[in-house]
Amino acid sequence: MRKNIVAGNWKMNKTLQEGTELAKELQAALNGKAVKCDVIICTPFIHLASISQIIDTKTVKLGAQNSADKVSGAYTGEVSAAMVASTGAQYVILGHSERRAYYGETNAILKEKVKLALENNLTPIFCIGEVLAEREAGKQDQVVKTQIEESLFDLSAEDFGKIVLAYEPVWAIGTGKTATAAQAQEMHAFIRQTLAGKYGAAVANETSILYGGSANAGNAKELFANPDVDGGLIGGAALKVDTFLPIIEAF
Ligand code: PGA
Repeated sequence: MRKNIVAGNWKMNKTLQEGTELAKELQAALNGKAVKCDVIICTPFIHLASISQIIDTKTVKLGAQNSADKVSGAYTGEVSAAMVASTGAQYVILGHSERRAYYGETNAILKEKVKLALENNLTPIFCIGEVLAEREAGKQDQVVKTQIEESLFDLSAEDFGKIVLAYEPVWAIGTGKTATAAQAQEMHAFIRQTLAGKYGAAVANETSILYGGSANAGNAKELFANPDVDGGLIGGAALKVDTFLPIIEAF
């Protein structure tokens, strides 16, 4: 059975002190609780080593929000997949729409990032999704399919089986405008069908596909009730235990 996952994406929020405090609070809130999903927090790079000492990975897992498309060397300011893994982090968000839009990350660059993340035993949480103009033009399926094909479809079935996908319609991120449960289900089913076409039904059925974009305590239950929605990638609502915990408990 594929995993249900609720992953927090802290983006560029929280100082080291604030971040370690939040991780401690989340760990305390989950201690002794029987939750029905994996919980992951994806923090800024500088928090990883400290937070990995605070959390119990049986209940809270740790990820980065990016890693480099190069192995090592003269790439000032970059952080490699090996460095991320050396902190104890197990996951890395790759291809977030903010990275694509503001930092020029293309499908080709992301293909390299995915490869290096996997080589370093990190699980990529690979983000895909269309912008508003693409949805209004009815092109969302093609956009998402191309993102998947160009960055992921050179992977072996075995390696593809290690990927978590996150469908995040860009028009829903941080806007308070969530995709309807029906829109999410329709796209997730299309994604799973695309995966089945390439890797077969077994691999497609085992792949966790998360929804992201203004998910919160009020809409999580309805979103997660869809057969092809296996959890959420949560931005704003992941910055406080009070707003993150109810999303985890929506499963
Ligand atoms: P949001 O962000 O929940 O604040 O919309 C989601 C994301 O960008 O991962």
